[in-house]
Amino acid sequence: MERNTLLSIGLGLTLLSGSSLAHIEQSEPLQSLRQSYFALLGMTFAPMGDMVKGKIEWDSARFSTWASDLNHAAQFGVERGFAPGTDKGTTRAKPNIWSNMDDFQTKLTDFRAAAAQLAETAAAGDPDASRDQFMATGGTCKACHDEYKSKDYLY
Ligand code: HEC
Repeated sequence: MERNTLLSIGLGLTLLSGSSLAHIEQSEPLQSLRQSYFALLGMTFAPMGDMVKGKIEWDSARFSTWASDLNHAAQFGVERGFAPGTDKGTTRAKPNIWSNMDDFQTKLTDFRAAAAQLAETAAAGDPDASRDQFMATGGTCKACHDEYKSKDYLY
């Protein structure tokens, strides 16, 4: 029993230290970091969109939980994922980010403010106000993507 427990802990550590950590590309850790951030945003925002569009039944409590998750994820300091020299590799981040860092930062700040407002609005539980703020938040994703995100991988 004890031996099995030790064995499984050992196995777990091996898995953690090996290359089996999916989605983290060791040769491009910062590209992986920022893509993980945006993947988390996308996978939280998408089900909220399904609810806004009526594809799944409206549930204010659930919507509010997602909005809170989105807000927490949004506040993570993804800026370090855009360090100088990381404009290469497997990425959809356009090179103009690095020559317009102030504007890029402004768009990130706008998004974070919208996500914070969305969490607050959703917590209040009014479906119409929540839908409106969801759309406004989506506008801040789009504002950044239009300028700074390529549809396809760049390199
Ligand atoms: C300040 C700019 C900015 C904002 C705001 C922003 N994005 Fe992005 N997003 C990017 C950039 C740049 C990439 C490409 C990153 C890369 O490939 O290195 C990206 C990539 C993505 C991806 C692909 C992630 C992957 O798997 O590689 C998704 C999904 C995404 N964004 C969704 C969203 C959603 C949803 C929002 C709003 C809730 C949002 N983004 C807000 C700039 C932004």
